[in-house]
Amino acid sequence: MSAQDNSTEIETSISAAIAASADLATLEDVRVSALGKKGSISALLKTLGGMSNEERQEKGPAFNQLRDRITEQIAARKAVLESQALSAQLASEQQDMSLPVEADPLLSGRIHPVSQVMDEISAIFADMGFDVAEGPDIEDDFHNFTALNIPEVHPARQMHDTFYFHPNDEGERLLLRTHTSPVQIRTMQAGQDGAGPPFRFIAPGRTYRCDSDQTHTPMFHQVEGLVVDKTTHMGHLKWTLQAFLAAFFEVDNIAIRLRPSYFPFTEPSMEIDMQCRRDGNQLIVGEGDDWMEIGGSGMVHPKVLAHVGIDADDYQGFAFGMGIDRLAMLKYGMPDLRAFFDADLRWLKHYGFVPFDVPGLSGGLSNKALAGK
Ligand code: DAH
Repeated sequence: MSAQDNSTEIETSISAAIAASADLATLEDVRVSALGKKGSISALLKTLGGMSNEERQEKGPAFNQLRDRITEQIAARKAVLESQALSAQLASEQQDMSLPVEADPLLSGRIHPVSQVMDEISAIFADMGFDVAEGPDIEDDFHNFTALNIPEVHPARQMHDTFYFHPNDEGERLLLRTHTSPVQIRTMQAGQDGAGPPFRFIAPGRTYRCDSDQTHTPMFHQVEGLVVDKTTHMGHLKWTLQAFLAAFFEVDNIAIRLRPSYFPFTEPSMEIDMQCRRDGNQLIVGEGDDWMEIGGSGMVHPKVLAHVGIDADDYQGFAFGMGIDRLAMLKYGMPDLRAFFDADLRWLKHYGFVPFDVPGLSGGLSNKALAGK
């Protein structure tokens, strides 16, 4: 049989096999059986070596063209099969975006009201240009007391019912922080190496006191606030608290009363009372002529500034501290503080928040419609 006859048959059968390849793997087999080392076209090309010069001059270009045609056909078929495979994959991965979101484990989980309220507080103060600072739960005496102008013999130390650790190797007794005020010290100290003053931050977090009844738990939450700048005064403090409380309780206006008090780290010191009205068991905030105490505040004591190396002749500022659990109870009508930390799923399901419901001033602070669903 002449080589040319054979090559026509080879081409016909390979072309048919290419056209019949239904997937990329089959097409690859066809390619190997034609163009691979031991393939039919490669074998054909090898026969050129045994030919006379004239015959080779004729068959050489013909065989090479045959190889090129087959290569092209394979490439064309490959492109078709690849596009089919992609379409099939896309079709199989298609999702109907108009379907409603199904109830899944993510939706049945709940955000604890304390976390929710911390996020709400942070969103409001962030909008006013405050940073959010953090400090350790385990503190030393200096940051929790001394630097805050509460010296060793000060009666305020007894007031705090502190949880102390056993003395460490250096004889130092660490403690669980009794308030978030030490974060004032740590953040201002850190600022000395870099950014501040001025300072403007809040510090929400856990605090601990050896105390337990219906309105006290050994672990509770506070939010500290501090602003230190050259001309910061009590008017700024009052406006900040008022604006915060109105935003937090989602009312247009709220009156507050700053009642003279005593804290070692502020001078003058004031207790913060907010306007409210009692309606049976319910407390309505921002109306009426009753008052509810929600925290302490004052102008930062010059000795506190001195402890963090800030010259009180150049800088002054205000500080405040509020109980987060208290704020949560008042806003969401939760009567018993102890239930916060009982880890009772029924309670969490009732008072908790849907995870996707992230508090923000533009999207709504507390999507109350979703709460408790
Ligand atoms: N640290 C105080 C406490 O736990 C609360 C407090 C009062 C914080 C006045 C302040 C402040 O920053 O200025 O009882």
